[in-house]
Amino acid sequence: MAFPSPEREQWSSRLGFVLAAAGSAVGLGNIWRFPFKAGDNGGGAFVLIYLACLLLLCVPYLFAELALGRNGKRNPVGAIRAVRGRSPWSLVGGLCVATGLAILSYYAVVAGWAVGYVFRDLATAEASDVAFARFTADPLWVVPLFGGFLFATVGVVARGVRQGIERWAKILMPMLFVLLCLVTFRAVTLPGAGAGLAFYLTPDFSEVSGLMVVEALGQAFFSLSLGVGTMVTYGSYLPDDENLVVAGGYVAVFDTLIALMAGLMIFPAVFAMGQDPAEGPSLVFVVLADVFGAMPLGSFVGTLFFLLLAIAAFTSSIPLLEVFVSYLVDETTWSRRTAALSAGGVAFVLGLPSALSQGAVPALSDLSWLVGNQILGPSPGVLDLVDFLWGSVALVLGAVLLSVFVGWVWGADEALEEVRPGNGHAMGRWAGPLWRAAIRYAFPVTILAVLVVDLLYDVL
Ligand code: TRP
Repeated sequence: MAFPSPEREQWSSRLGFVLAAAGSAVGLGNIWRFPFKAGDNGGGAFVLIYLACLLLLCVPYLFAELALGRNGKRNPVGAIRAVRGRSPWSLVGGLCVATGLAILSYYAVVAGWAVGYVFRDLATAEASDVAFARFTADPLWVVPLFGGFLFATVGVVARGVRQGIERWAKILMPMLFVLLCLVTFRAVTLPGAGAGLAFYLTPDFSEVSGLMVVEALGQAFFSLSLGVGTMVTYGSYLPDDENLVVAGGYVAVFDTLIALMAGLMIFPAVFAMGQDPAEGPSLVFVVLADVFGAMPLGSFVGTLFFLLLAIAAFTSSIPLLEVFVSYLVDETTWSRRTAALSAGGVAFVLGLPSALSQGAVPALSDLSWLVGNQILGPSPGVLDLVDFLWGSVALVLGAVLLSVFVGWVWGADEALEEVRPGNGHAMGRWAGPLWRAAIRYAFPVTILAVLVVDLLYDVL
């Protein structure tokens, strides 16, 4: 049990791993959330703070997840057990596995909307917000799209690491990049795009505040797919001689690059079309639908954009499912196929309330009687609640616990041996102790502080 099975799959190359992990990182979070967080928080100033959080906290923590996975050659639960044997720490792995599945359950709902929008004519007379509300409230559209999207995810994961995950990452990530370049080109060449660029790129340090740092850190964290055990699982498929610093570094660079590019795509378009930059996952379907509806070649560009969004969501859904599947494959006698189908089935059942919460079933659309209006905004539905509990709280909690496990229980020195490739020159004399300090102190303390500030701010 404690020994990894000799036939455990591995990535075929560093590129395969980097594309798959970058596919996980690049998702709805980059293309919609990041640009508007930046826009709301002083543009360039936010971007600089985001980069600092990424470099000082998130990237060191990324190495810890990768190292834990490669050391144990197992899913998050198994990787923890490989270090500590049977102990309550296994529950932390269990939390990660559950979080991945819970995030997938609503992520695939939003992804299904994106797929639906690929086939919509955006230049209709109906106002975008009305059209969007009608679309998401129609279970005959939303549920099949959601189910179909999950089924496609199951199809990829069932084929395994090389034939499924890596192969599709190699096809979809270049496509995503080309689409992003095309839509960005159209956006920055619109008349009036300059105002959007100025808004996005000019740092306004007068807007820097404590809360903004919280936002930047949270975004860096979500964007790199940390705290869900994804990187533990993906690290477990890395060969022993792979340099985790280099491989993980590439993932962080790609993720950041694509987030920055998404800002270049969205702001010029929004400003050129006289729209206000606003915030929220549903607005991509409203504001941008208007933008595309009004611009020359808009229907075509709109189709490309929603295709891009759907692809980005797809390459993030694959790892969300894979975490649970790797758990089932490692810890039970199930085949990968059975595991993938069962996990997908569970995600479907879990996600149904979210899918039906955008107007289809009124009882699921407004939970303000249960959670009030303070934390989640006016009339929060099931989807908002699940996103908050799992996508914000559980994720961050999982990451703090994992960093404490790696830094203190497994031991930062042991972990460092794993991070360093065999010959040990990935981290120099000073980088090792720095990483040790980051993982033992800086990371858990900062994240806990952020969680507390965030909760206090939301509740008060
Ligand atoms: N990083 C993804 C995005 O930017 C979202 C995400 C968060 C995720 N945690 C994850 C994706 C874990 C895969 C696995 O949209």
